[in-house]
Amino acid sequence: MNPVYEKLLKCYDSVKEKVDFKPLVALVLGSGLGGYADEIRVVETLDYSEIEGFPVSTVPGHKGRFVFGYVGEVPVVVMQGRVHYYEGYSIQDVVLPTRLMKLMGAEVLFLTNASGGINYDFAPGDFMLITDQISSFVPSPLIGQNIEELGPRFCDMSEVYDKDLREIIRLSAKKLDIPLKEGVYVQLTGPAFETPAEIRMCRTLGADAVGMSTVCEAVAANHMGMKICGISCISNLACGMTDNPLSHAEVQETADRVAPLFKKLITESIENIGAGVIR
Ligand code: HPA
Repeated sequence: MNPVYEKLLKCYDSVKEKVDFKPLVALVLGSGLGGYADEIRVVETLDYSEIEGFPVSTVPGHKGRFVFGYVGEVPVVVMQGRVHYYEGYSIQDVVLPTRLMKLMGAEVLFLTNASGGINYDFAPGDFMLITDQISSFVPSPLIGQNIEELGPRFCDMSEVYDKDLREIIRLSAKKLDIPLKEGVYVQLTGPAFETPAEIRMCRTLGADAVGMSTVCEAVAANHMGMKICGISCISNLACGMTDNPLSHAEVQETADRVAPLFKKLITESIENIGAGVIR
């Protein structure tokens, strides 16, 4: 059997032994946004370290566990902490948790992250609805023998971020009176922040925000036929746009500052997604 698939099934068996819960929505919490997990009605938690073979995150501010529970009436699995390519994992390991959540039953993948704003109309603390994505210098997690059980060899990428989910998030933000920017997210490998020249390159490529996650997860989820949506928290203006050097501390500070609004927006969006999907 394909070793990537074998490892995934092993992790799935390990989860099933410990947890009996079928989520509808899989929510991935980005840097500094992990506190959202306190908002949900928790049924169970599972540390990544308890799952045999599971890649464990090493980034400060990333907790490293699945939280199972409910947002309103909607069953969710929350990734409190994700793994990143720059930590040294293979790209297949980076997307293993995403694939695992699909196997658990999640139909919707809700991605969040902190990012650097490239678009001159953006300010730190803004939320950006992700409309599309660009992968830059990050290998595709679909490289290698195709796992037919998960999806097709050549998958269509014309609407990675589901149109209906985007509209639900737009309406949710409007209802809460939370301004919502929109744009294209580009993933670079990191872990160094970009140079000013790289940011100019990203802007020329058509990106509005830059980060070190999300795109590869969306590729894997799209391959498996999940419905995907994403919100990026613009934690800083990208390198070269201000005189300030970038730091992880700034990313966390902004995420902390906007956490209350982020919580409201995510909760409203998930409840509305549940109302639309469950029916
Ligand atoms: N660049 C890359 N990743 C990031 C940034 C950034 O400016 N801010 C938060 N994550």
